[in-house]
Amino acid sequence: MTDSTPMPADDAAPPEPGARVLSGMQPSADSLHLGNYLGALVNWVRIQQQYDAFFFIPDLHAITVPQPPEELRQRVRRTAAQYIAAGIDPERSTLFVQSHVPEHAQLAWVLICSTGMGEAARMTQFKDKAAKQGADHAGVGLFTYPMLQAADILLYQPHGVPVGEDQKQHVELSRDLAQRFNHRYGETFRIPQPMIPEGAARIYDLQNPGAKMSKSAESPSGLLNLLDSDKQLAKKIKSAVTDDGTEIRFDRENKPGVSNLLAIYAELAGRSTDQLQADYQGRMYGHLKVDLAELAVARLGPVRDRALQLLEDPAELDALLAKGAAKARTVASETLKDVYSKLGFLPAAAA
Ligand code: TYM
Repeated sequence: MTDSTPMPADDAAPPEPGARVLSGMQPSADSLHLGNYLGALVNWVRIQQQYDAFFFIPDLHAITVPQPPEELRQRVRRTAAQYIAAGIDPERSTLFVQSHVPEHAQLAWVLICSTGMGEAARMTQFKDKAAKQGADHAGVGLFTYPMLQAADILLYQPHGVPVGEDQKQHVELSRDLAQRFNHRYGETFRIPQPMIPEGAARIYDLQNPGAKMSKSAESPSGLLNLLDSDKQLAKKIKSAVTDDGTEIRFDRENKPGVSNLLAIYAELAGRSTDQLQADYQGRMYGHLKVDLAELAVARLGPVRDRALQLLEDPAELDALLAKGAAKARTVASETLKDVYSKLGFLPAAAA
């Protein structure tokens, strides 16, 4: 079952018919942001045509920081609505909520037991968050979060995991844990490949282009949300930080703000940053911003409107998610059964 053949990052042709992918986005904010959209969601929509795709909403991960219960419920639905509005087809792909499939938490425990303290402590996302909160105040859940993510992945035996670059280390941990288990107990898990898009692997904050765009942004104006109004989108783009120069040139090191705007533009327009740089030669930052604002409104506005429309019928969304969870469980329970048996757990008596 192991498969370590490298996968193309983008427009991936499946390595075999029926090859599977799995990914998820935390429901820890009222809206997904442009980094989630360009770094992952756009890629998901494209590859769902060719792969047996599983997309889920990691609500167990979200509670590693406290979430007001009613907000969490709403945010899970909002996340599902944005997946669908962006183009995830729930008839084609399996769409579900993590806590509806208890095997995620069950396999996570098994993987936690085979992870070293040092190995977990090396995870950069944990280090960053622990540094912000102070190591003694960071929750144990934050520490074990990557093992839960490994369980999410390994339960479904996927070939690929389409994520932005910041999740690469977590996918690598899941590979290590799978290899360790296979080595000890015999072939059990497929070894998954990260699938990272080239141009949009990392989208940066509009106000602080040295930092990745993230829901924990210092200023809300650095973050383009998928559910922002047209006016908010345009305003944030027009007030994006650039530099003292005048030249529109893609140069991440010396012109991070302008380069980020060019990269976003290129992704939204399906063009290269070289082409854009040529088009904008001799023009001013203001021109680039006005055009990008118009493009962002044209691309993201319909996604927002469709998501808001879907949210008007929460019962329909809940029904879709329940159907997805039932399908996900059939796959997840097979893997967990195999794992439990290999570990030497006594089978539970049939009910
Ligand atoms: P999350 O919710 O932080 O992000 C969801 C996806 O969006 C990508 N992303 C970005 N891409 C480019 N530029 C950015 N600024 C940017 N910000 C976020 C992320 O790389 C990700 O693909 N731990 C995961 C959720 C998760 C998961 C999983 C993912 C839980 N279990 C299993 C894959 C498989 C997370 O917090 O992603």
